Amino acid sequence: MNDATPEVLISEDDIQSRVAELAAQISSDYEGCSDLVMVGVLKGSFIFLADLSRRLEIPRTIEFIAVSSYGNKALSSGAVRLVMDVRGDLDGKHVLIVEDIVDTGHTLKYLIGIMKSHRPASVKTAALVRKADRAEVDVTIDYLGFDIGDEWVVGYGLDFAEQNRTLPYIGVIKPDD
Ligand code: PRP
Repeated sequence: MNDATPEVLISEDDIQSRVAELAAQISSDYEGCSDLVMVGVLKGSFIFLADLSRRLEIPRTIEFIAVSSYGNKALSSGAVRLVMDVRGDLDGKHVLIVEDIVDTGHTLKYLIGIMKSHRPASVKTAALVRKADRAEVDVTIDYLGFDIGDEWVVGYGLDFAEQNRTLPYIGVIKPDD
């Protein structure tokens, strides 16, 4: 991998505009709801969750969850392991899972199952980007920022080997360079 600055795929302005649109939609859909819990999936969702949550015009609380994929990420087996569950009580609450990226879909499908085991009133999903061509399981994304191709993307929370998470835009890298 070279040290070049990642090429811009989705600009900072485009991300911020889309996050504002998603926040407006979520605020409208959950209008009157007093117990929305946004559950960020560590680590990648931390910037998207921060920006999205601050733009909402409805009451909300924040939780985090951490998972890990078994084996080689590039050759996903689909097996996901829970590393850290939410701290708060989700019983009877409205859960919105917040992901940075949906690739094969295995992680989000697993997380929906975990959230449902907490007996919430509802479970919905938000993801900033989705690699539609990589989907291996059918999973609903209620609030989607962008569809992208099968490229390795970094920035706005996304990493390659823990690098580039804090770029303000989403960029493309070629790990084999
Ligand atoms: C990414 C992303 C999702 C998962 C999606 O996490 O944040 O959790 O992969 O992949 P899938 O749809 O194929 O299951 P990653 O394992 O890179 O961890 P990170 O968030 O800590 O960077």
